[in-house]
Amino acid sequence: MSDSPYLRNRWYVAAWAHELEKGAVGRIIMDEAVVFFRGKGGKVAALEDACAHRYMPLSHGKVEDGCIQCPYHGLVYDASGACVHVPGQPRVPPGATVRAYPVAEKWRFVWIWMGDPELADEAAIPDYHWNDDPKWVAVGGYFHVRGSYRLLIDNLLDLSHVAFVHASTLGTDRVADFPVKVRRDDNKVHVDRWILGEPAPRMFKLVGNFEGPVDRWQLIQYQEPSHFMIDVGCAVAGTGAPNGDRSAGITMFSNHTLTPETETSTHYFWHHARNFRLAEPELTERLATATRTAFGEDVGIVEAQQDRMQRAPASKPIIDINADAGVLQARRLLDQLIKEERARMPGAVG
Ligand code: FES
Ligand SMILES: [Fe+2]
Repeated sequence: MSDSPYLRNRWYVAAWAHELEKGAVGRIIMDEAVVFFRGKGGKVAALEDACAHRYMPLSHGKVEDGCIQCPYHGLVYDASGACVHVPGQPRVPPGATVRAYPVAEKWRFVWIWMGDPELADEAAIPDYHWNDDPKWVAVGGYFHVRGSYRLLIDNLLDLSHVAFVHASTLGTDRVADFPVKVRRDDNKVHVDRWILGEPAPRMFKLVGNFEGPVDRWQLIQYQEPSHFMIDVGCAVAGTGAPNGDRSAGITMFSNHTLTPETETSTHYFWHHARNFRLAEPELTERLATATRTAFGEDVGIVEAQQDRMQRAPASKPIIDINADAGVLQARRLLDQLIKEERARMPGAVG
């Protein structure tokens, strides 16, 4: 584990909480097979997804009374990973357990801790209150992405791409012409862009009825290892939004969280929240469709990049441009943290 390519001692989103209503969910996370289900009292549990008997994935089994039963020969496990029943014999053999992971439910997500269980502190779960706050209405979704979470981090830290990738939803022609301000603070990188006196993009016109030019903001907060809280919106141009007066505008939070499945695939969870026109289900539906379309476009980009990266010779360099300033800071931060964590792991050299 000392050469893990992941930052393990962190909380990652493993599933939407509602996914567990239908039973067990099996997911590969950082190359490990994990099964999620609701244990006694509905409390969420995460176990190694391979039976102690003959490795059958427990996620194929059924959940009953807070326990999960292997579908092959019927061994039953509780939420701690202990086998509590073996069909046809009164005694459970010693060692019949599977690994249990620290797990939590917060902000309508199921969170998992893939590192040292002793270090798992629920207070460190990132703030995604927008997803579970009566003052906001959030739409959200999940993509399985055949691409590295690092490519998605790049994508979300450089929104100059909206002009090219999201022309029908979020893009306007000149977004990339407005420079960004990048600042690092502790475990975060902020990338702020103001687009002043430009037409509103289609999605903002849809929700805000903007006819003329707007002042638009994209204020990205990246929190390591792979969390994004992005404050986006626009206001009638010249009404003071850059100085904090958003009264002639609308604000939305476009939040994203990435969980490595493998080095080249990702569980991508997103939600998009608004704090206006809350009781309009039709608007919610339209926003859900527009955002799912837009983020799906990013998935297409990242999967195409990953494909080419895997075919390219290792010697092919990548070239950076000005818009990469935030990307480079985030990479540096993440690489440094992974390096430090590896050095502390048992078996590390040096
Ligand atoms: S493999 Fe699970 S009970 Fe046999
Ligand atoms: Fe995008």
